[in-house]
Amino acid sequence: MNAHPRSADDADDEIDPDQHPRKLADCRRCGLWRNATQAVGGEGKRRATIMLVGEQPGDKEDLAGHPFVGPAGALLDKALEQAGVSRDAVYITNAVKHFKWQLRGKRRMHKSPAQAEIAACGYWLEQELDDIRPRVIIALGATALGALVPDRKLTLKAALGQSLRRGNTPVLVAYHPSFALRSPDPESRQAAFQTIVEALRRAGRLAGRA
Ligand code: URA
Repeated sequence: MNAHPRSADDADDEIDPDQHPRKLADCRRCGLWRNATQAVGGEGKRRATIMLVGEQPGDKEDLAGHPFVGPAGALLDKALEQAGVSRDAVYITNAVKHFKWQLRGKRRMHKSPAQAEIAACGYWLEQELDDIRPRVIIALGATALGALVPDRKLTLKAALGQSLRRGNTPVLVAYHPSFALRSPDPESRQAAFQTIVEALRRAGRLAGRA
């Protein structure tokens, strides 16, 4: 972590879409790298048929360098298990590869990425999609949905039951695991969790590998 972190807001205006870094670790296409420990790329087999896309690494992921290894990842593992889909069968990544945060007390709290940062990081998501060529994509939450199916008017709630596509690839939509963890009441937490399980089950059927 940077010893003297600037506020995350400072990073928003440092967008340089003309940079085409070859390695994720060298990415300076936006300013989020400044306050992150490291970039966190996607993980999974190159032959994975299902791609899961979250928002951005959280505190634990930023430190570990792997996606979905913190509390949201534990919930995702539970959803994968309930859906009967092995974590080995999926490729897991995020729309944004650096952790954006702000200090609250001593804790680094998640801060939502700006539209320009999501767009700048689309450079990497595009490469992952080209490499993996999944049969089905699952957007976990609104940031991933916006990164995969750009349509300003499409809300996450409206997208939930729809048949969306990115090119020819079906895009299924679910709530983000963090929302399923933090939603105020148990019913909405359970309902959000179920959208993830359902999307995984459907993806398993569509990919021919439940
Ligand atoms: N939330 C995300 O969207 N991705 C992670 O990797 C962890 C938490």
